[in-house]
Amino acid sequence: MAMAKDINKRLNELKDLIREHDHKYYVLDQPTISDYEYDQLFSELQKIEHNHPELITEDSPSQRVGGKPLDAFEKVQHRTPMLSLQNSYSTEDLVEFEQRLKRFLDTDEDFEFFCEPKLDGLAMELVYEKGVLTSALTRGDGQTGENVFQNIKTIKSIPLKLRTSQPDDVFEVRGEVLIRKDDFKELNEKNEEAGLPYFANPRNAAAGTIRQLNPQVAANRPLVFFAYSHGVVQKTFSTQHEFETHCAELGLPTLKIFDKDITEKSLKEHFQKHFSDIKDNEYRLTSVAGLAKGIDNVIAYYNYIQKIRHYLPYDIDGIVVKVNSFSLQDELGFIARSPRWASAAKFEPEQGKTVINDIVVQVGRTGALTPVAVMEPVKVGGVTISHATLHNQDEIDRKDVRVHDHVIIQRAGDVIPEVVEVILDKRPKNSQPFKLPDECPICSHKVVKEPDDAKSRCVNPLCPAILKESLKHFVSRRAMNIDKLGDKLIESFVENDLIKKFSDIYRLKQDQILNLERQGKKSSQNIIESIEASKDTTLSQLIFALGIRFVGEQTAKNLAAHYKTMDRFMSTDKEELLSIDDVGEKVSESIVSHIQSDDLKQEVQDLLDLGVQPKSMEDNLKGDQLQNMKVCITGTLPVSRDEAKKIVEEFGGKAVSSVSKKTDLLLAGESAGSKLEKAEKFGVKVISWDDLQQMIQ
Ligand code: IVH
Repeated sequence: MAMAKDINKRLNELKDLIREHDHKYYVLDQPTISDYEYDQLFSELQKIEHNHPELITEDSPSQRVGGKPLDAFEKVQHRTPMLSLQNSYSTEDLVEFEQRLKRFLDTDEDFEFFCEPKLDGLAMELVYEKGVLTSALTRGDGQTGENVFQNIKTIKSIPLKLRTSQPDDVFEVRGEVLIRKDDFKELNEKNEEAGLPYFANPRNAAAGTIRQLNPQVAANRPLVFFAYSHGVVQKTFSTQHEFETHCAELGLPTLKIFDKDITEKSLKEHFQKHFSDIKDNEYRLTSVAGLAKGIDNVIAYYNYIQKIRHYLPYDIDGIVVKVNSFSLQDELGFIARSPRWASAAKFEPEQGKTVINDIVVQVGRTGALTPVAVMEPVKVGGVTISHATLHNQDEIDRKDVRVHDHVIIQRAGDVIPEVVEVILDKRPKNSQPFKLPDECPICSHKVVKEPDDAKSRCVNPLCPAILKESLKHFVSRRAMNIDKLGDKLIESFVENDLIKKFSDIYRLKQDQILNLERQGKKSSQNIIESIEASKDTTLSQLIFALGIRFVGEQTAKNLAAHYKTMDRFMSTDKEELLSIDDVGEKVSESIVSHIQSDDLKQEVQDLLDLGVQPKSMEDNLKGDQLQNMKVCITGTLPVSRDEAKKIVEEFGGKAVSSVSKKTDLLLAGESAGSKLEKAEKFGVKVISWDDLQQMIQ
């Protein structure tokens, strides 16, 4: 009996510990133990539960995935309806919103507003009973939603049990399920490479994931959640601010709140501190919600969030303004299906209307055929767009996009322009559906479409398009780094039959280059010199340059670290490959099929014979001063990021992209932002550029 008691005690301890570390890692983004230590705790928990299945509880951290695929979601009525917000689109509408409030309450006093971004995901209600998550409902029609509990449980930042010793019988919290922009990009890239369906934007990807009946799908997708509202709750709160602060205390993920009231001045300071040094396509997670007195400050907030929206890690489509006081909210009540006390002010959609003049088909490095719409140029979010990817035949069929169609386009996930929909009313009468050709548009070889691949592919190894794209990859900066061989030159070398394979680059003679249009003595000399300089390379760059499918830069580095020489790499087998970090079934199969090809073997031999000298990681070391150190780089340095990264690696360090407890050094240049703060918080040593020079002398 005592034994059973002990086991139960340890089990509860483990559950609490794991919950605590999940909260630190996924909600606070401040882990305090290593992945290894965490895995130890988790496997101890699993072992006990395996031996004592009767002790498994719903709220155990082991129960996040494991449910069987459902036949359908259960329909459940919300205890209180999930309403929507009145949308407005301009700052004038915000002024009107305030005037309506003042009229209704017959007051002249300024209101205190709680302002937050309008998150562009899907609304979700989490139901906690006695502190334990028991269901998760979609909005549905507002009255009845679907219980997607199995999928929501897989979101690691959502606690299965609230952090309180006195849980309420019922606590319903509402918020938004999202996929972060960088995770979305990675998910889409992975899907694209594997030939799986493409998502149009992060919201669709999140919604599509939540609709899956098999929870395993959600478990593998990077969903996150932010709480911002409530359903039935027992405690009374006096303000929205207090409610959201309470949610954070319960361990729920919430938007971070500014520590100062929102004013023009405090926003300016916030920008200086967090965004002044930010680059395009970089995201920062900072405070984004807060209290504003009077509508003028709300307008300043609207303008501010619009300015920084591209730098936030998730998509937003406006702001939401709520009267902060719950007693005033009660007085204000509802109009139809929306609260009178809140308003959404949307941003102008970053969409535009235009006409498709043509659909061209591009052939990529892996032979994948990608249809691209060529459009009448149109300005969207300050950028002129004339091309949009249509991804593949399934996407074209789904949207039924045709040449001469009028379309709505947008920048998805902030980067790739996409066709959102066709304006069917304006479709010309004789229009025909677009079909990808059965033959490669470049070499006329038959195209292959495997059933589990969304892409049609040209499989002719001699296809000039594949050759051109492979060569562009081969010479690119992170590969062989032959910077004087630009895209145009490669195209003309291929068209003039001067280059038929990688090694031909090293057979080029200066007079052959001189004979090409517009190439003078000086420029042809530069090209030859840049080709010559590229021979001095690293093993990982050479492996990456070969363009083996699924072998990205990181995998190439891992392979180089393992094999040390090209010979050893070229004679490896699947079993050895599978023992390397990052290399799974798919990657190892792809590598094996490449290195078994006689053409590639000959090509690699030719490259080496022509003088390409890949140094192994060890030969490449200039010193060991940073041996095994994880170094994060931030701020503006006297050299480029890539250059700094190279130096770190040359002295044995590993360049990492974010600061955590495990980071050994932060190399901080001028105007370093949030990473510097984080390093100080974690006690990570911060060094300047000059300190680094001293260290590696
Ligand atoms: S509060 C009474 N806060 O906007 C409704 N909603 O039309 C209270 N949304 O379906 C909602 N971000 O999915 C609130 N910070 C935020 C929000 C937000 C996004 C969505 C929500 C809702 C829609 C309202």
